[in-house]
Amino acid sequence: MSDLYARIAGIGAYLPEKILTNAGMEAIVETSDEWIKERTGIEQRHIAADGELTSDLGTAAAREALKNAGIDADQVDLIVVATATPDLTFPATATIIQEKLGVTQGAAFDVHAVCSGFLYAMATADNFIRCGQAKTALVIGAETFSRILDWTDRTTCVLFGDGAGAAVLTAEPGKPEEAKGILKTHLRSDGRFRDLLYVDGGPSATKTVGHLRMQGNQVFRHAVNKIAGSMQELADQAGVDIADIDWFVPHQANQRILMGVSKKLGIPEDKVISTVAKHGNTSAASIPLAFDAAIKDGRIKKGDMVLMEALGGGFTWGAALARY
Ligand code: ACO
Repeated sequence: MSDLYARIAGIGAYLPEKILTNAGMEAIVETSDEWIKERTGIEQRHIAADGELTSDLGTAAAREALKNAGIDADQVDLIVVATATPDLTFPATATIIQEKLGVTQGAAFDVHAVCSGFLYAMATADNFIRCGQAKTALVIGAETFSRILDWTDRTTCVLFGDGAGAAVLTAEPGKPEEAKGILKTHLRSDGRFRDLLYVDGGPSATKTVGHLRMQGNQVFRHAVNKIAGSMQELADQAGVDIADIDWFVPHQANQRILMGVSKKLGIPEDKVISTVAKHGNTSAASIPLAFDAAIKDGRIKKGDMVLMEALGGGFTWGAALARY
C-alpha cells in the first residue's frame, strides 16, 4: 500500500434557527433551568423547523466545509453520513445529501453508531483514503433528535438538540504519523449494553420510528471509564503523550462527563472545547459542531493536535487523534 493520509481540509457546521431554552423547556415538562444546568451544563438547544430534514442540516454543513476547504462539490468522491435520525428508512441520507450537493460521482452511504457516529464515519473515510479508494471525502454528522424524543419524558427530552457538522478530508501523500491530518482512530462497541440507551421502535421490530429511552445514571457510570480508556489506548498506540494534546474535542453529552474524562486523564480545563451549554447533545453532529466553533473563535489553529472522543447507544465508543 502506498503512503497516503487524510488531511482535514475544511470543517463546517449548521444549526437550525429555532432555539429552545431551559425556560422554554419548563413550559413542556416539569423541570427547571437550575436542574438542567446543574446536572448537564445545558442552557439551550436548537430545534429543526417543520419540514427541515436531517439531509438539509447535513447539506448546509457540508457546503460550509467545502467552502472553507476551497474545494468544489464535483471533486467529492465519497460521502459518509453519521446519523441515527435519517430522513427515511432508505435511501441513505448520504445519497440525499449527495443529490442536494449536485455530486454525481463516487459513493455515498450512512454509518450508524449513534453519538459515536462521527468518529465511525471519520475512521471509515480515513481508511478509504489510506487504501487509495477515495481522494476527497465528506464526513458528515447530522441529526434531528427532536423527532425521536418523547416530549413527555423529562429524563431524556431536556438533553438533546438538532444540528450538523462536516469535515472535508483529502488524500495526501506521506506517512499518516507525520501527517497534518488524521493520525489514528480507535473504535469499540459492546452490544451487551444496548438496553441502557436505545430507541423503542424500528422498521423490522415495530414498523414505527419509536422514541429514545435511556437509563441516564447507568450510561453516565460507563461513559467516563470507557471513553477515558479508549483515549488512553489511542494515545499509547500513536505514541503520543496526552499532555502534548493541544485541544480535547469531546462528544458533547453532558458537561459532567466531559469534565470527568478530562480530570481522569489530567487534561486541563482550558484545553476542553465545550459547546454543550449552547447546543445540548446533538449526537453524531456534536464533535464537528464543537470543532467548528473552536476554529471560528480562534482557539483551534492549523497544526494543533486535537483529540476527539465519544460514547453512544450500542454501546459504541471510541477516540480519534488528528493534527488540524
Ligand atoms: N428535571 C427535573 N428533575 C428531573 C429531570 C428533569 N429534567 N430528569 C430527572 N429528574 C429527577 C428524577 O426523576 C429523579 O428524581 P427522584 O430522585 O425524585 O426519583 C432525580 O431527578 C435524579 O434522577 P437521576 O436520573 O438519578 O439523575 P442524574 O443525576 O443521574 O442525572 C442525567 C440525570 C443528567 C441524565 C445523568 O444521568 C446523565 O447525564 N447521564 C448521562 C447520559 C447522557 O448524557 N446521555 C446522552 C446520550 S449518551 C451519550 O451521548 C454519552
